[in-house]
Amino acid sequence: MTITHPVAQLTAEAYPKVKRNPDFKVLDSADLAYFRSILSNDEIINSQAPEELASFNQDWMKKYRGQSNLILLPNSTDKVSKIMKYCNDKKLAVVPQGGNTDLVGASVPVFDEIVLSLRNMNKVRDFDPVSGTFKCDAGVIMRDAHKFLHDHDHIFPLDLPSRNNCQVGGVVSTNAGGLNFLRYGSLHGNVLGLEVVLPNGEIISNINALRKDNTGYDLKQLFIGAEGTIGVITGVSIVAAAKPKALNAVFFGIEDFDTVQKLFVKAKSELSEILSAFEFMDRGSIECTIEYLTDLPFPLENQHNFYVLIETSGSNKRHDDEKLTAFLKDTIDSKLISEGMMAKDKADYDRLWTWRKSVPTACNSYGGMYKYDMSLQLKDLYSVSAAVTERLNAAGLIGDAPKPIVKSCGYGHVGDGNIHLNIAVREFTKQIEDLLEPFVYEYIASKKGSISAEHGIGFHKRGKLHYTRSDIEIRFMKDIKHHYDPNGILNPYKYI
Ligand code: LAC
Ligand code: ZN
Repeated sequence: MTITHPVAQLTAEAYPKVKRNPDFKVLDSADLAYFRSILSNDEIINSQAPEELASFNQDWMKKYRGQSNLILLPNSTDKVSKIMKYCNDKKLAVVPQGGNTDLVGASVPVFDEIVLSLRNMNKVRDFDPVSGTFKCDAGVIMRDAHKFLHDHDHIFPLDLPSRNNCQVGGVVSTNAGGLNFLRYGSLHGNVLGLEVVLPNGEIISNINALRKDNTGYDLKQLFIGAEGTIGVITGVSIVAAAKPKALNAVFFGIEDFDTVQKLFVKAKSELSEILSAFEFMDRGSIECTIEYLTDLPFPLENQHNFYVLIETSGSNKRHDDEKLTAFLKDTIDSKLISEGMMAKDKADYDRLWTWRKSVPTACNSYGGMYKYDMSLQLKDLYSVSAAVTERLNAAGLIGDAPKPIVKSCGYGHVGDGNIHLNIAVREFTKQIEDLLEPFVYEYIASKKGSISAEHGIGFHKRGKLHYTRSDIEIRFMKDIKHHYDPNGILNPYKYI
């Protein structure tokens, strides 16, 4: 039996200590009349369409739910600018929203903030096949960016399990890392320029196509990972990578995390230039996913404590496959690994990736999940999951029962030192939350890790920056927020 929660508790009720800022204006009919004067009917959603309104108020995990009565979906930068200027003048609070797939409650309102959706800004602006520079509106869905670039022999330098819904501007605002960070690197390196509307309506248009620009402070970097707290990203210029001509994948079963690390060292050394992903999942992640993917046969014969998916991307199928086959054979012959399966065709490759990409959805459909996304030194990467599991076990929440109340699922990106710890639960309870927090954050701080590797801070980790950042860093962040958004109207109650 899987319990699903169609509607989250209102955030304001679940977190009564968080109070609405009384300085913010309450929306009235004059405001609505202004928005109607600059936007067409299909750029406004209000309480006349309650179901649509609800979908913008609730996050993907169904953990947070706001009470906005107005969604604005402008189709141009100029309109975003007019909206922000008006809201700033009137002190109306605003939450920018992309595909609403964020995992920390950053993209939904807490109280009655206006939702500013980028969904109607969905055009590709330009592509230069020589340099690989791709420019688009912030609301282009990642799947569509991939499709466009694929047709032009390139790929978007980032891929995520949520690619069918997440938007380019959203992933830049989140500074998502994704599945191939190991190969293509960070958005801080790949983004060439941004067009951003500031809270007062001014537009910073720095959407140039230069690979290098060493003229003073690199302001665009501030908006990458700012989670829409200091400006609304409306356009992105990014460097696309050449499309690999050959892709392959191999799926391993492994007994301990030391061996996962040994395999990683071997893969870097022996697969070197064709290695494009090194992802791991623990036993809990796969058990949860087996329960979810009922129709897909599992690729390995035996159960293991860890599973690793290695992807190769190169330019010569024969060469790459020979290299990967030799790598697989050697890991088995040398008894480093007991079981591994290499994809024999594209359908197999897609199936192997399905086991990895489905983990977040599988955990969420267990009932709900407490989600942590952490950076640690590789030697410590799995220890946080082991420590949390032991704690939950000691409380009798993880048992041998076929469907325990809690399932601990650790998985993520070995190449990036990034673990996602999903505590899948049949329902959210105070007992589980108290066992997890602040324990998880204190553990990460003790290992000098980071409480967010790629999902950000949002509502979930508000007030938790001090576990990772020093007082002086937090002071500078607050100064920056105040400089760009003196009225604090943009994405309030989150981040800092
Ligand atoms: C992943 C996303 C959730 O790695 O970050 O699956
Ligand atoms: Zn991830």
